[in-house]
Amino acid sequence: MKRMVNLDFAGSLIDLKVLAGDVQKVREAQKKLYAGTEDFTGWVKLPFTYDKEETKRILETAERIRTQCEVFIVIGIGGSYLGARAAISALKQREKEKSGKPVPEIYFAGQNLSGTYHRELLEKIKDREICLCVISKSGTTTEPSIAFSVLKDTLYKKYGKEEANKRIYAITDAAKGTLREEADREGYVTFTVPDDIGGRYSVLTPVGLLPIAVAGIDILDMLEGARVGAKVWTAGPWEAVPENQEDMGSESDITQISSPGLLALTRVSLLNRGKFIEVFEYYEPQLQYFTEWLKQLFGESEGKDGTGIFPASLQFSADLHSMGQFLQEGKQIFFETILNLVHPDKDLIVPDDAGELLAGKSLNAVNRAAMEGVMAAHAAVGVPMIRIDIPELSPYYFGQMVYFFETSCALSGYLLEVNPFDQPGVESYKKEMRRVLKGDNNEAKR
Ligand code: PA5
Repeated sequence: MKRMVNLDFAGSLIDLKVLAGDVQKVREAQKKLYAGTEDFTGWVKLPFTYDKEETKRILETAERIRTQCEVFIVIGIGGSYLGARAAISALKQREKEKSGKPVPEIYFAGQNLSGTYHRELLEKIKDREICLCVISKSGTTTEPSIAFSVLKDTLYKKYGKEEANKRIYAITDAAKGTLREEADREGYVTFTVPDDIGGRYSVLTPVGLLPIAVAGIDILDMLEGARVGAKVWTAGPWEAVPENQEDMGSESDITQISSPGLLALTRVSLLNRGKFIEVFEYYEPQLQYFTEWLKQLFGESEGKDGTGIFPASLQFSADLHSMGQFLQEGKQIFFETILNLVHPDKDLIVPDDAGELLAGKSLNAVNRAAMEGVMAAHAAVGVPMIRIDIPELSPYYFGQMVYFFETSCALSGYLLEVNPFDQPGVESYKKEMRRVLKGDNNEAKR
């Protein structure tokens, strides 16, 4: 397996020859992560130990859902939704064309509190056969709870309670929470969010796998991609270091850290050198929600105790015509992490009337020229760039990328000396929102 991290354009701030001490810190972080003694690290061994029976049940349930409905609505927020949305946006169309199997339309709800959004959703689905999948580890999060109650009400009116309950699938804690109580009482088909895995690390558990399987995407391939990555990254020997980085290896010993470790080391080194913002960039629109998941993963894992890198994302070439200006000439407080899809799925040839420079070229070649041009222009003004090479957008590599970034994020959290698995700050807005709501109720009563 090749190294996914390419540092050819990392610039002068990243001199791995002088980061020898930091390499040692990454090795310690790797040891801590792989010791298996830290809370919420169940995802680390998951690709080796996942429950095969449960996966079979997920596949059977997905098959049943596909025959039951035309519209499948996934209700959840944050870690209980973004992984599935990322996979479905990246892969659903491709897998559908490959298999030729019909799959339901997939909608998402419960990730905002917009009356307009939910009204329009109800309008779109009103004459369709519907199934719901409600996902919440705590079972008490406001946004999915409201969306679930609105959509459940719609189902009750459409099918009656008994039939509606056969169309509701719940993924929640094994024993606690109001959603678990309701699911047991009403007899929904349920799957469990593992105790030792937090929301943003749960893509490869039923949280992500059930909706992804309903979309016709091969979850076994996804788990296999993660397993192969995990095998290399958890135990070593690490991936071969590319020739142009070998000399860096001899002094700083980067051969002793894995690709996720190298990414963690580079990101944290850049933060320590005044680069506070990481811009995830992609040239294939299917990666949009993958970067949404990345923003959540890194933002929620690292942004605490007064530290962390602020994650942002830009879609190129669209955003080159807006934020491109800032990247080229604005305040240099950021670095770029480029998601480079090496073999895009499809291509076409630019017609003759597009002008001499472009006519007859493959569109993907033009897209690649845009990436190379941007990298050269940004290198000229000293923007540090990390390129992540993704061989292709398939279930296998999607699973591998998920595991890669989860590992890298956990390691950089340890390097930053924060707990990458909690999110105490998320609670504050909920408390304040409840306070405001109570005030509103009093006002309404008056
Ligand atoms: O990563 C996380 O832990 C969060 O983003 C949660 O997934 C999110 O807040 C939703 O929580 P729950 O699944 O309890 O509804």
